[in-house]
Amino acid sequence: MKKILIETYGCQMNKADSELVAGVMLPEGYTNTENHEEADVILLNTCAVREGAEDRILGILAHYRKYKEKKPNLVLGVIGCMAQNLKEELIHKRPWVDLVMGPDSYRDLPKAIQQLQSADHEPLVIVRRDRFENYEEIFPVRGEGFNAWVSIMRGCDNFCTFCIVPFTRGRERSRKSSNILREVRLAVEQGYQEITLLGQNVNSWKDEESGERFADLIRAVGQIEGVKRVRFTSPHPKDFPDELLYAMRENPNVLVPHIHLPLQAGNTEVLQRMNRGYSKEEYLKLVDHIREILPDVAFSTDIIVGFSGESYDQFQDTLDVVRRVRFSGAFMFKYSRRPYTKAEHMPDDVSEEEKQRRLEELIELQRSIEAEIVQEWIGKETEVMLEGVSPKREEEWIGRIPQNRPCIVPAACGQVGDLVKVRIVDARAMTLVGKPL
Ligand code: SAH
Ligand code: SF4
Ligand code: F3S
Repeated sequence: MKKILIETYGCQMNKADSELVAGVMLPEGYTNTENHEEADVILLNTCAVREGAEDRILGILAHYRKYKEKKPNLVLGVIGCMAQNLKEELIHKRPWVDLVMGPDSYRDLPKAIQQLQSADHEPLVIVRRDRFENYEEIFPVRGEGFNAWVSIMRGCDNFCTFCIVPFTRGRERSRKSSNILREVRLAVEQGYQEITLLGQNVNSWKDEESGERFADLIRAVGQIEGVKRVRFTSPHPKDFPDELLYAMRENPNVLVPHIHLPLQAGNTEVLQRMNRGYSKEEYLKLVDHIREILPDVAFSTDIIVGFSGESYDQFQDTLDVVRRVRFSGAFMFKYSRRPYTKAEHMPDDVSEEEKQRRLEELIELQRSIEAEIVQEWIGKETEVMLEGVSPKREEEWIGRIPQNRPCIVPAACGQVGDLVKVRIVDARAMTLVGKPL
């Protein structure tokens, strides 16, 4: 049996895609390995969203030359968004790479690898754009754990001016409801208890045949026997449907009250230049509206500092929104200018030092808010889904509350995937400590 090693970088979409790639390769007689020395094929599934993400992969590839030297017939491939972005350029930069393949070409993997193994083959660059894939009938081979990532759509048509994703992943298209539900049922049979539905903008998911929308889909997923929790990422603030909130309110134990609502920036002018489709006030109004319907909801977000033309005053609006919304978690980034995007032609005029300063100011504010949120949990009752042994103390287990915050519990209270009712009795940094009731 030949061995394949798949390393995943970037977002959850890439995690799901790596499982899809395993779903393409394992039926061809491959087994997964984590050992670089024994692998016959090494694939890096890569991200292109910021320059730093690509630099990191180039660094890793410099390092991986040694595996090629030891085992000349090893196939070293770069797949995913960075492959689609750089194409041939990647081979020029790292000539020992054998294969460059974009996210719409994974069906061609077995054939390409066979070709590369059969003779002294020139590197292959396969970044097709004539077909936008949904991989409808390919069943992913998932890793260990309790959560199954289920991709419900691919691509993105929003063209936020800073973002490369519409260029690496192509036009937006939804998978069919019947295939998604079948995949969820199978995942449950395989023992996964939590389902996370993935798309660049889940609000625009639509079943072309039935006309069903995302709220219908999430209701249906929540009703599948054996599904204990359903999460999703990400909805776009510009078109958030009330129906989704009603679905979450009807079934709060399963459709848990956590919403990742990417803000990107707090200033309306900056948001306009980003082509986000909402103003500061509209974002805040949406948050208030969601909280009226789902009082227990926790929000998390993504924020970019130092976008083209952002003044320090405009950055203050970002801090203002962060203070008002009180996000329970945030991914915060310095703006990175990307090829193909509209903002590639706008000046990248906030200096690196200034971006760093703003990022630190934002992180500090977010950290202090999160610390308060953690303290507010103490004394409350909630439910933890157990994920496994705590990485820090073997005698304890770790899990998550519905709002997605990690929570530690004593070990002797269940198995992976069990829901345990707890009272929060303490907090360690940003992690809650729960006592089973
Ligand atoms: N579709 C998702 C975002 C996927 S990219 C959504 O809209 O929620 C993940 C995050 O990376 C984005 O939300 C954004 O905050 C960040 N990002 C994207 N392009 C970036 C860039 N050029 N520079 C810095 N951060 C960026
Ligand atoms: Fe990028 Fe915007 Fe699409 Fe998200 S919605 S993937 S940020 S273009
Ligand atoms: Fe995800 Fe990075 Fe591609 S964020 S969609 S892997 S560019």
